[in-house]
Amino acid sequence: MKRFMLLTVLFVFGFFLIACESENNATNGENDTPETLIYLTLEQLSEFDGLEGRDAYIAIDGKIYDVTNSSRWVNGAHNGYQAGQDLTAAINDISPHGTGVLSRMDLIGEIVEE
Ligand code: HEM
Repeated sequence: MKRFMLLTVLFVFGFFLIACESENNATNGENDTPETLIYLTLEQLSEFDGLEGRDAYIAIDGKIYDVTNSSRWVNGAHNGYQAGQDLTAAINDISPHGTGVLSRMDLIGEIVEE
């Protein structure tokens, strides 16, 4: 009987640990807003074009996403588009996927006026 109770306690404790771990993952997803956002003008954004080893950032609806590590944005290029720009119109009106894909990218900042 004692052994049974010990096993039950261990089982419940193990379950509790797993539950905590998955909750942690849920709150640390890829698209979580980082603690410190960066603020760039469109002119500053143009420096993050992904070329020559530079990071690749894109702006959509005033938000800046980091696509540097995306296999679909090698050297900042994606289906005829280059990073470092506001691509709101292109992703909404021309891309086949729309803005849904952005949830997989890191939201890192916002565009500010000059
Ligand atoms: C005609 C132009 C475009 C075509 C044909 C195209 C096509 C694609 C395809 C097939 C994917 C993969 C879809 C998936 O994994 O579910 C993708 C991913 C993506 N596209 Fe586009 N796209 C176009 C334009 C754009 C534009 C203008 C943006 C603007 C920012 C954009 C942003 C993205 C992003 C962020 C991803 C996700 C990349 C990843 O998961 O690593 N695309 N695109």
